[in-house]
This record gives sequence, C-alpha cells and structure tokens, in this order.
Amino acid sequence: MIGRLNHVAIAVPDLEAAVRTYRDTLGAHVSQPHDLPEHGVTVVFVELPNTKIELLHPLGEGSPIQGFLDKNASGGIHHVCYEVADIAAASARLASEGARVLGDGQPKIGAHGKPVLFLHPKDFTGTLVELEEV
Ligand code: CO
Repeated sequence: MIGRLNHVAIAVPDLEAAVRTYRDTLGAHVSQPHDLPEHGVTVVFVELPNTKIELLHPLGEGSPIQGFLDKNASGGIHHVCYEVADIAAASARLASEGARVLGDGQPKIGAHGKPVLFLHPKDFTGTLVELEEV
C-alpha cells in the first residue's frame, strides 16, 4: 500500500540554526521559510536527491508541534510521510486492520495541498506516520 518516502519532518526549536546546519554544514539545498498558519507551523524544505526533509517550527498559539518541542527541547524527528495512491482505500484498509487514524479519520489537506492522514504512533512502532495521496 505505501510507496515512496515523501518526507521526514523534524521539529526544531531554532529554525535559523537548523537552516544553517542543513545548508552550511551539510551542504543541502534549502528553501525559504513558508508560514502555514492553518497548520500552525513554519516549514523549510530541504531538497535531497531522493526525498525531502521538512524542518518544522511552531507558528502562533497552540501549534501542534509545541508539545513535542516541550518534551524534546533540542528538537527531533516528528513524523515520516509515505505516499499512497488512494487515501480513501488506505483509510479503509487501516480501519479493517484496527489501526488508529488521528482526528476524525477523514483525510485533511496537508502542507503540500494534497490529502493526508496521520496514524497513531502507538500502532506504528512509536512513530507518527503521515500518509499523503500523490
Ligand atoms: Co508531513
């Protein structure tokens, strides 16, 4: 069901420092910061030859990644995102397998303008998983 690794998202407490690390120390191509108020994050895309890294920084009150940073002060891997061809079929399969989808179980429009689901970390080896329809 899952296909390519679309991205790995890393929550960072200091976005400028994270950009310097990826751009200057690691020599990667990094985007300008993008504010996504509807998702409560500012994101920088690190373009790698085979996937992306997304550096996430809280934006505004009640950011969904603030709690993660409260527990992980130096930042850390927040989620991995796998591509699926049909998100409705993926959702149905997860339900039939007893895996928990976060929220109301319905796909939402994610940071790339495509439908996404987030899966409960306790059902997926302790890792928050995002599925994105491509
Ligand atoms: Co993501």
